[in-house]
Amino acid sequence: MIVTIDGVAASGKSSVASGVAQALGIPYLSSGLLYRAATLLALEAELDVNDAPALLRLLAERPLRLLPLPEGNRIYLTDTDERDLTADAHTSAVDAQVSAVARLPEVRGWVNAQLRAVPAPFVAEGRDMGTAVFPGAQAKFFLTASPRIRAQRRRLERGEDVAAVEAALSARDEQDRRQSRPAPDAQVIDTGTLDLQGVIQTVLAGIEQQSA
Ligand code: DC
Repeated sequence: MIVTIDGVAASGKSSVASGVAQALGIPYLSSGLLYRAATLLALEAELDVNDAPALLRLLAERPLRLLPLPEGNRIYLTDTDERDLTADAHTSAVDAQVSAVARLPEVRGWVNAQLRAVPAPFVAEGRDMGTAVFPGAQAKFFLTASPRIRAQRRRLERGEDVAAVEAALSARDEQDRRQSRPAPDAQVIDTGTLDLQGVIQTVLAGIEQQSA
């Protein structure tokens, strides 16, 4: 079984995917973490983030490994130092550049190949899991929430200013719009009035309905 959980930035996708995967006893895959790690490597190598051939060369030279832990995915470099990139992939510097990297079809192809190589069952979380990557998934969800609510949640995580975070999220929504659409057969869930457990329970109930 494949379950897809897509949604806008900071809509709680990772926490929801993690909770659903743990309830089902299967792994979850964070596609955003692959885009973030690719962006981090590009920034550290001082590459132009629009230079797709250079980026793909870098990804081939410095292979990444996604560790799909149920409580939170981690991403490592597989070269000699086995560095854990997870924390560094969640900075504002990466946030600001990741949409540009994720717009490159070559990079999207690279991420999708990593994901499709993983044997089912799993929960896949991102923007286009239910549309482009796993269109045949048995159950699909798309999470939304207003920019203000998402900014308040992110501030609790990162301690940043709400108005600035809200503006940055709205900008990223705009940049991500092309690859962030609900699949026609996805259940859309507005998480604004629900707490994390409420969203997880809604998804679990939806899986029963959709796969019945
Ligand atoms: O979910 P996230 O915020 O960690 O994702 C980081 C960025 O990666 C996001 O701005 C858009 C991009 N992304 C994407 O284009 N497609 C995906 N399936 C997942 C993420």
